[in-house]
Amino acid sequence: MRQGKGDPAIAALAIAIAVVLLCVASSAVLAIDGAKAEEELPTQLLNGFAATHAAGSAATFEPVLYATSAVFALGFLRVGPASLDLAVVHLPSSFPVWRATPARLGDWSRPATLAFDDGTLVLAGPDGAVLWRTLNTVGDTVALLNSSNLVVQRYENPQPAWQSFDHPADTLVVDQNFTASSSPLVSANRRFTLQLGRTYMAMHMQFDAGQAQAATAPVYWKHTALEAHLENATAPPVYGRLDALGFFGLYLDGGGGQRVDVLSFDTFALNLTGVFRRMTLDDDGNLRAYYWTTGDSSAWTSDYKAIAERCELPTSCGAYGVCVPGNAQCQCLDSNGTSTAPPCHGEDTADLCSTASSNGARQLGFDVVRRTRVSVAYKEELPFRTNTTADGCELACAGNCTCRGALYNGASGYCYLIDFPVETLVYQADDRMLGYFKIRKAATANSARRGMSPGVTAATVALSLVLAGLAAAGAYWGYRTWERRKRKRAGMEQELVPGPYRDLKSMASSNNSFKA
Ligand SMILES: *[C@@H]1O[C@H](CO)[C@@H](O)[C@H](O)[C@H]1NC(C)=O
Ligand SMILES: *[C@@H]1O[C@H](CO)[C@@H](O)[C@H](O)[C@H]1NC(C)=O
Ligand SMILES: *[C@@H]1O[C@H](CO)[C@@H](O)[C@H](O)[C@H]1NC(C)=O
Ligand SMILES: *[C@@H]1O[C@H](CO)[C@@H](O)[C@H](O)[C@H]1NC(C)=O
Ligand SMILES: *[C@@H]1O[C@H](CO)[C@@H](O)[C@H](O)[C@H]1NC(C)=O
Ligand SMILES: *[C@@H]1O[C@H](CO)[C@@H](O)[C@H](O)[C@H]1NC(C)=O
Ligand SMILES: *[C@@H]1O[C@H](CO)[C@@H](O)[C@H](O)[C@H]1NC(C)=O
Repeated sequence: MRQGKGDPAIAALAIAIAVVLLCVASSAVLAIDGAKAEEELPTQLLNGFAATHAAGSAATFEPVLYATSAVFALGFLRVGPASLDLAVVHLPSSFPVWRATPARLGDWSRPATLAFDDGTLVLAGPDGAVLWRTLNTVGDTVALLNSSNLVVQRYENPQPAWQSFDHPADTLVVDQNFTASSSPLVSANRRFTLQLGRTYMAMHMQFDAGQAQAATAPVYWKHTALEAHLENATAPPVYGRLDALGFFGLYLDGGGGQRVDVLSFDTFALNLTGVFRRMTLDDDGNLRAYYWTTGDSSAWTSDYKAIAERCELPTSCGAYGVCVPGNAQCQCLDSNGTSTAPPCHGEDTADLCSTASSNGARQLGFDVVRRTRVSVAYKEELPFRTNTTADGCELACAGNCTCRGALYNGASGYCYLIDFPVETLVYQADDRMLGYFKIRKAATANSARRGMSPGVTAATVALSLVLAGLAAAGAYWGYRTWERRKRKRAGMEQELVPGPYRDLKSMASSNNSFKA
């Protein structure tokens, strides 16, 4: 007001700015409401752009940038009950085809900002804490292409300085090149990854996802491109790409981009036109292709899955579970196949190695479970020994603290060693299939071991505290001590579950889906 009195030009400018801001704001509001203000949709961001997520917004997606086709939008996405991520969403289906997935998600109940500044796209939480940003990028514009590719570009260079296609989350879309240098596909629950090797693609189980220490990531599915082209060590690496015709192709990098292999979908050769396809690494560890038809259909239809049988999924019955093919029923490894249903044991991610002895050879206490007629679907990916006996196979595992179990095939003399947490086994009606498994003894005996899981650490600390508390209190008080002891013990029981029991929840849910 004071300014306006001093200089009419500034006042006019201020009004003009206010009007522009109002227009931008109202178009954003319309967009959020999904109204038909299509001419108004922002399709490009310039340096200096900033958008704010209002704390606790009722919408689950707040778009800030649209593809010109208006089929995709970039915006703030609510993930789970209360987390916030940046995502590119396929608007007809509300499916996020890309997510930034920072190591630490934002909080939906607090403000957040998406800014394009100094050529970099930045997602920041309250207090300006950076959650995610485009690294090593300088650009003039940000645009969302009709393919759903989010690109940061220089005016003078048609090649993107940064593109979301190089950083997939759990999904690939048509024309997105999946190369050995792309980020791996990571399932939304972070339990599984899909990576491209030089001549193959492989799915891995992840343990302790998100923790700093290098964890083992065993392969449970592998597809090697046509051998004929690859015996030649000088052959260039392959990359993969989802094709609109209904297949996933593997191509030779460089040169003519010769196609060397194809994963063909059920709808291949049906000439489905105008469908949107995606390929997603789902939370059960399967890689599936889906298509969405505009108009008559309003659901995703799956036309490809890498793993055909439910029992062949690596964690279909949870840790130490046994999956019986046919009716895909779950049992527990050590329940003698009668009544006990999974969850069987919490997933035990820490190994049995002790640092108490100098050579590391001493093993922590474990119980042994032996069971016949079990195997795993991915035994070809496990380290193995040949020409062994059942006893030799068992011994090879028993004496090695990194080994959690062994599978012996009495017919072939092959011995497969499991050097990662024991997951779901598959029932196989053959008495010559022998299994040997270690199950850690109760957690409280293992206070000195390496790589202790947070759950066990907490339990041990809690137990120590409680014991110390009891001793001290017992010396000084009588009846009140007894009361307090009772209270503490009640609180402690929550924490005394051995191992990282947080996984019980995901196991329970996968079991529930089994019954459906
Ligand atoms: C994107 O799609 C819209 C609508 O289908 C179309 O008008 C536009 O030309 C497309 N853009 C490009 C670059 O193909
Ligand atoms: C994918 O790779 C092909 C062949 O190398 C290339 O022509 C195309 O531009 C790439 N697409 C993207 C989106 O990078
Ligand atoms: C291997 O690749 C090189 C170069 O591409 C080629 O000259 C050679 O004939 C190939 N060898 C075989 C066995 O395919
Ligand atoms: C599929 O489409 C192509 C080109 O649009 C056409 O030449 C071909 O005959 C079609 N095939 C079938 C089975 O409809
Ligand atoms: C399973 O059954 C065998 C023989 O029937 C028995 O010796 C063993 O103790 C049982 N194991 C469990 C965990 O019940
Ligand atoms: C397998 O082991 C047996 C006994 O240890 C030995 O006689 C035989 O030569 C071995 N076979 C091979 C192929 O190594
Ligand atoms: C124990 O097993 C691991 C992994 O299978 C292997 O690398 C290591 O050499 C084995 N150690 C001994 C002493 O056999």
